[in-house]
Amino acid sequence: MEKMHGTRTCRQGFFCCILCSTIYIFIASILHFIPSIKKKKLFHRMIDFSFMTFTLLFFTHLLVHAELTQPPLFACDSSNSLTKSYPFCRTKLSTSQRVNDLVSRLTLDEKISQLVDSTPPIPRLGIPGYEWWNEALHGVAYTGRDSRFNGIITSATSFPQVILTAASFDSNLWYRIGQAIGAEARAMYNAGQSSGMTFWAPNINIFRDPRWGRGQETPGEDPLLTGKYAVAFVRGIQGDSFEGGKLNGRLQTSACCKHLTAYDLDKWKGVNRFVFNARVSLQDLADTYQPPFQSCVQEGKASGIMCAYNRVNGVPSCANYDLLSKTARGQWKFNGYITADCDAVSIIHDEQGYAKLPEDAIADVLNAGMDVDCGTYLLNYTKSAVTQKKVPVSQIDRALRNLFSVRMRLGLFDGNPAKLRFGNIVTNQICSKEHQDLALEAARDGIVLLKNNGKLLPLPKSNTHLSLAVIGPSANSSYTLRGDYFGPPCKNFTTLQALQGYVKNIIYHQGCDHFAKCPTASIKEAVEIAKKVDYVVLIMGLDLAQEREELDRIHINLPGKQQELIKSVAEASKKPIILVILSGGPVDISSAKDDNKVGSILWAGYPGEAGGIAIAEIIFGDHNPGGRLPITWYPSDFVRVPMTDMRMRPDPSSGYPGRTYRFYTGRKVFEFGYGLSYSRYAYEFISVTQNKLYLNQSSTYHKVEDLDTIRYKMVSELGTEFCQKISTSVTVGVRNDGDMVGKHLVLLFVRPKEHRKGNPLKQLVGFQSLKLDGGERTDVKFAVSPCEHLSRANEAGLKVIEEGSHFLLVGDEEYQIDIIV
Ligand SMILES: *[C@@H]1O[C@H](CO)[C@@H](O)[C@H](O)[C@H]1NC(C)=O
Ligand SMILES: *[C@@H]1O[C@H](CO)[C@@H](O)[C@H](O)[C@H]1NC(C)=O
Ligand SMILES: *[C@@H]1O[C@H](CO)[C@@H](O)[C@H](O)[C@H]1NC(C)=O
Ligand SMILES: *[C@@H]1O[C@H](CO)[C@@H](O)[C@H](O)[C@H]1NC(C)=O
Repeated sequence: MEKMHGTRTCRQGFFCCILCSTIYIFIASILHFIPSIKKKKLFHRMIDFSFMTFTLLFFTHLLVHAELTQPPLFACDSSNSLTKSYPFCRTKLSTSQRVNDLVSRLTLDEKISQLVDSTPPIPRLGIPGYEWWNEALHGVAYTGRDSRFNGIITSATSFPQVILTAASFDSNLWYRIGQAIGAEARAMYNAGQSSGMTFWAPNINIFRDPRWGRGQETPGEDPLLTGKYAVAFVRGIQGDSFEGGKLNGRLQTSACCKHLTAYDLDKWKGVNRFVFNARVSLQDLADTYQPPFQSCVQEGKASGIMCAYNRVNGVPSCANYDLLSKTARGQWKFNGYITADCDAVSIIHDEQGYAKLPEDAIADVLNAGMDVDCGTYLLNYTKSAVTQKKVPVSQIDRALRNLFSVRMRLGLFDGNPAKLRFGNIVTNQICSKEHQDLALEAARDGIVLLKNNGKLLPLPKSNTHLSLAVIGPSANSSYTLRGDYFGPPCKNFTTLQALQGYVKNIIYHQGCDHFAKCPTASIKEAVEIAKKVDYVVLIMGLDLAQEREELDRIHINLPGKQQELIKSVAEASKKPIILVILSGGPVDISSAKDDNKVGSILWAGYPGEAGGIAIAEIIFGDHNPGGRLPITWYPSDFVRVPMTDMRMRPDPSSGYPGRTYRFYTGRKVFEFGYGLSYSRYAYEFISVTQNKLYLNQSSTYHKVEDLDTIRYKMVSELGTEFCQKISTSVTVGVRNDGDMVGKHLVLLFVRPKEHRKGNPLKQLVGFQSLKLDGGERTDVKFAVSPCEHLSRANEAGLKVIEEGSHFLLVGDEEYQIDIIV
């Protein structure tokens, strides 16, 4: 199945030629010098002919090879005496000294030319062009500008779309995926096959509304989960593992936390992201929208931030000084570059009318702290903004210092990067077996078993006479498996093809016309097929024509005639059917959930290039599913809530139900964190180091408004040291009561004993993944920090801890801890 990669074929051929030529030179030399053999002229000629042929082949190969590989783009070529003399090329100086020197040498026009994503070279200083815009959400991907896959590299490992990878709740897995993507990206650059190493991933906006078309790109609806994903992915892709995590600011590749902030609406009922003004309370900003960004920057040490299109409380994010300069650079100590989303600067004037003139928009973003524009707007209007004294050149210099610092940290001003620190990362990394195996592991570990009545799954795999119907619009598509923001995968393999590896006797039917949209379905044919076979696997759900960037959904039902098709096939089938849902966002599949003839349901997100194999392995029991939903699955009537309402907290007086498992008060189809397995697991709380937390060291406290009797403390008043002191270690025993080995996720939540207005109903505190054999048990430890995990934001956006009792929750087990203020 595996297709040999272009580069590897080339490399192997190259070595093969050298080897063959050497052998022939050796044989020919021996023949020349042995007189007795010299007489055998025919044989001698044969050898000579072969020798010449191979020499010719060898040189042809050298030529071809030389044509294919190009040197990477870099500045400060040590063989160039001119550039060598510049202080900005001296690696012994600090980055800030080098950057200051470089910026001081630029003319105003040169400076302006560097403020956009496609920067031109500055030949007089030996500086090549650079492309800031690169994508690698779940594998190195295509972008609008880069021609990365046109040369010797034609593919990259396609990991599952992020929403499914998140369902594994496994930081180590996320880290390894980041590493693999970073290595493939660096290898491409080293081989001269790309013009940039600043990747605009991860997307860590909270998946607030099930209709959001880009929800699939995110790790889901929980701020803690999203923050942890960000940290792991960023550390991996930036190369945190090198030199024991002490890279000293150096970057394998650069990550970008996007989109700051409260961006989670693309295009819904005539409202689009360019004009949308998200009205967000300080409270929701503090304990929902901002925490993932803070983690991404502070803990992940991300070297990039993207400011979003939308306005927040009237102010465009890219023009928000408080957000970019005070919060990100000031409070979070961000030291990378800030890019605008593509054309986000032009809309500040053209669509939002926030800036009167184009020059005002330029001044707004540069004065706010944005460094680079994806687009051309800054090329066109920065000079006039300077002439009109709307923006000082010092702001441009600040932006350039941030930009060139990142390019230097990537090692692009130290001579040929292929000979430097990350130079040993070469093209054999791309689509390597390890990376493709990792893509399969991620798909396996993410897929969620939503229903398994009467242990229908796994199907018997030893039964060679088994007949199977595989029905569905995406069953034989490798494209749908990828999800949005993809590159060309290492291999194209479909779910149908994977199932054919298990069962010979398969009848396939696409079931729907027009892909997942399914305006018409071949219900009669599908029913006839279903009657004939032992088992039916229906592969339904969404695709990119239903949900993607610039396309939010209007309803959250299965599209078109899918529902009818499922019901009819289930009714006709001999045994209960197996339903596989491909989707990023949740779908209301209540009727399948409640239908006894639908025996099993799997949610597979968009599982990437190896996703079909993972689905087949789970159906036939070669893998025990253990993924959990990273988002609440709402019933279809949830869509009566306007998508534009950003409030997380419910408002009972107006019937507003709130959002996500932390606040939503309505009925759910499936809960956040839900997921079954072929094994059953039992838990018990073994120990909790502190179950009474005394915050009454000082007698000052505050009282909750309207509830005179409830006291609380501000987290800032308690101080970091005290917060550490009251940190609690929780040990939970876990036992696999089944007989099948499985990777199991332990999710620890906390729930207040008495729910008060404005507080989360429940909150994720930690998660760990472990592998347990059938019958095996083990202990897992969690660190619970009350200041972080038992607090909430007040209406002013400040963290507070209230007195009262909480339950720690694992599965159905509860453990009470009390807070005394
Ligand atoms: C900038 O100017 C160029 C050339 O006149 C034009 O093609 C481009 O559309 C302009 N860009 C913007 C964002 O207005
Ligand atoms: C499934 O797709 C593959 C690849 O596009 C194709 O070769 C194969 O014929 C298809 N199978 C069926 C049964 O249509
Ligand atoms: C996979 O399919 C796409 C489009 O159908 C094609 O461009 C690409 O070359 C294929 N990749 C491989 C590795 O076969
Ligand atoms: C804190 O409260 C506990 C329980 O009410 C009490 O026993 C203790 O003396 C208080 N500590 C201080 C310093 O007031």
